[in-house]
Amino acid sequence: MLTSIKTNSFEGNKSRELGMMYFRVAIILFGAQLLFGLVAAIQFLVPGFLFEVLDFSVARMVHINALIVWMLYAMIGSVYYMLPDETGVETVGVGLGKLGFWVLTVAVTIVVLVYIFVQVGAGTEASIWLIHEGREYIEAPRWADIGIVVVVLLFYWNVFASYMKGKQTGIMTVMVANLLALAGLYMAGMFFTDNISMDQFWWWWVIHLWVEATWEVFVGTLAAYALIKIIGAKREVVEMWLWIEVLMLFGSGILGMGHHYFWIGTPEYWWEIGALFSALEPVPLIAMFVHVLYDWGKEQGIADAEGKTGTVANNTPALSWIVMNAFGNFLGAGIWGFFHTLPQVNIYTHGTQFTAAHGHLSFFGAYATILIGMMYMGLQGAYGVKNLKSTFKTKMALFLIAFGVMGMTIALTIAGYEQVLIERAELGAGWNAFFVAQEMPWYVQAQLWRAVMGVVTFIGFIYLVWDLLTIGAEAKKAKA
Ligand code: HEM
Ligand code: HEM
Ligand SMILES: [Fe+2]
Repeated sequence: MLTSIKTNSFEGNKSRELGMMYFRVAIILFGAQLLFGLVAAIQFLVPGFLFEVLDFSVARMVHINALIVWMLYAMIGSVYYMLPDETGVETVGVGLGKLGFWVLTVAVTIVVLVYIFVQVGAGTEASIWLIHEGREYIEAPRWADIGIVVVVLLFYWNVFASYMKGKQTGIMTVMVANLLALAGLYMAGMFFTDNISMDQFWWWWVIHLWVEATWEVFVGTLAAYALIKIIGAKREVVEMWLWIEVLMLFGSGILGMGHHYFWIGTPEYWWEIGALFSALEPVPLIAMFVHVLYDWGKEQGIADAEGKTGTVANNTPALSWIVMNAFGNFLGAGIWGFFHTLPQVNIYTHGTQFTAAHGHLSFFGAYATILIGMMYMGLQGAYGVKNLKSTFKTKMALFLIAFGVMGMTIALTIAGYEQVLIERAELGAGWNAFFVAQEMPWYVQAQLWRAVMGVVTFIGFIYLVWDLLTIGAEAKKAKA
């Protein structure tokens, strides 16, 4: 993939080149995310590991902020990639887009270096501006926050103006409206208040309304586009599903935010609102699951009936990751989310490793998968390959990463279960109970297995990078 710009067959399509630039940074940050996750996982087992060199708090912070940032990069990359296809015109202002890319990338690098070099210190007005804001997942300091807003405005302008200039497909209409909401929500997490309940109240507007509303709709649009491109699904069918998904996702996800308002000092009516609407959230995820498999089965069936052999997919690595998305989204967000979404259950599970189990499977299943799929679509275009086929490396990456993340999820679920039983139910959730529960064999063994499965995930990641770097050139050579 690193060489793909030089050897690309985009025929001067600058928007797609820009998309590839974003994909490259995304994959590097994904690697960094995993490495810092491994450090944090080892620190659960050996608390003194890298103490005062790279503390747990910093390793964890870089792990989850890198996660968000690589996903946003891959999302922007995907939009720049699909934009010329959907609108039928070249993206306006690609030069501005490139400028935005470099500003963002330099800013991200500085922010991460500051996290690593300045690990401890007093929380002051200056540290909010220069070091970080202390809001989990979106910890960028204020100067970077403002920079991000400017860069995102440039990006949004590019998308919006191209949309207005070109064709207005259903997919792009959803994309343009949804991106406005997605970008606008970021601002809810930017202002400072010293009231922790208020701070959390607004912070969830970003985190929850991203992952359980706007990001999910984004996934819907990507899947719709990819299904048309990869298996030749009918646009009318795909777009009809998309509109239904949008309705159901927003219908359940927006008020579903109440499931984070059970214990932070918000009024008690949120218990009922949060329970009801968040319990409905798995419904659209089931719909999305059915939709992908339905379209795939239908197009494959038509091809078989016409006597064609082999798969209908012209890009099996991308399709595999998108099918994985259908499963992962449903399992990680739908099932693991539903487990702890009712207040009667959440009172026991809140703040245990159960949450981390759900966090891993959902972010991976709902987002990492489809974004990796989009990278394979990018490569197919970059090398001008009509039919991109999975290689041994593609399959190893797919298997090891999925197995590793599932393994980590199961280990963390067991750790969380043990915490619920011992720390919460038996010992009454006190200070001491917290520590006693973490010394029990089930907990310690689960943390060990999480670390082992983390290594499996990382080996899968190495296969993934190796595949991304070679699959395009190999496919092109095989054809020539
Ligand atoms: C792809 C979509 C989703 C992603 C990426 C996601 C991710 C996460 C993450 C990372 C957390 C932990 C946040 C923290 O640090 O405090 C969390 C919390 C939670 N999620 Fe999800 N989630 C998704 C969908 C869902 C769905 C559909 C449900 C319910 C059906 C759900 C229910 C919950 C609940 C109840 C919590 C609060 C846990 C607690 O603090 O006790 N999530 N989610
Ligand atoms: C090498 C593999 C990985 C390892 C060893 C690892 C390890 C960790 C550790 C130790 C934490 C801190 C948990 C805590 O504070 O109790 C964490 C948090 C988190 N990780 Fe990972 N991780 C890995 C991969 C991933 C992947 C692939 C994703 C998603 C795509 C992910 C998403 C998250 C999230 C969302 C959190 C915050 C969870 C929460 O607070 O509820 N991690 N991870
Ligand atoms: Fe939520």
